[in-house]
Amino acid sequence: MPEAHKPRHGSEDWQQSYEQGTTPWDSGLVDPALRTVIEAREIAPCKTLEVGCGTGTNATYLAQAGFDVTATDFAALAIEKARAKATAAGVRIDFQVADLAELDVPAASVEFLFDRGCYHCLRREGRLSEYQKMVKQVVKPGGRILILCGNADSPHEYGPPKVSATEICSDFKKLCRIERLAAYHFEDVGGTEGPLAWQVLMTRR
Ligand SMILES: C[S@@+](CC[C@H](N)C(=O)[O-])C[C@H]1O[C@@H](n2cnc3c(N)ncnc32)[C@H](O)[C@@H]1O
Repeated sequence: MPEAHKPRHGSEDWQQSYEQGTTPWDSGLVDPALRTVIEAREIAPCKTLEVGCGTGTNATYLAQAGFDVTATDFAALAIEKARAKATAAGVRIDFQVADLAELDVPAASVEFLFDRGCYHCLRREGRLSEYQKMVKQVVKPGGRILILCGNADSPHEYGPPKVSATEICSDFKKLCRIERLAAYHFEDVGGTEGPLAWQVLMTRR
């Protein structure tokens, strides 16, 4: 299996990927599904949390669009790069180096939770219940959630962890109302078509 596609577990593994540059997900481009939601004004500027923000491309985009962003990742190098990106763009973001299960975010304070590529990792590591607990704790009832994750309908073995539509519905049915569950493709460096993915837009019950 190519190094870029090896499964990662724990913050040290992820930190090492950022050190070695084996980060195929880090296209440097704003995710097209996020851009569509924001440009269509499906979600207006509000108190926002991004989990697993990586090097901060999407967090910076949201801050530039007027969102009040807290962006978190447990890989310290990713956050260092994200801070530099936000500073260069002239936006203020509250960055936290923290495991998703130990965030310093007030209960029920988040109006928009954004996640590109973190939920599917927690799931693969058998930590789904911690992800659900985080959603339950920090997202305000009525708050919106956009999760972008790997799609089990992909014909390829490589790529991000894969989740089926049935699994997504089962994982979130108690906590959220699913508004949209649609297939799309992640974008790779240069804007080329990346792995098959899901965009999951939900409202916290
Ligand atoms: C596939 S990458 C996506 C990064 C970024 N969202 C992007 O689209 O470029 C997943 C990110 O989640 C972070 N991550 C994985 N598990 C985590 C956890 N338990 N707590 C915090 N961050 C985590 C990794 O460090 C990595 O930056």
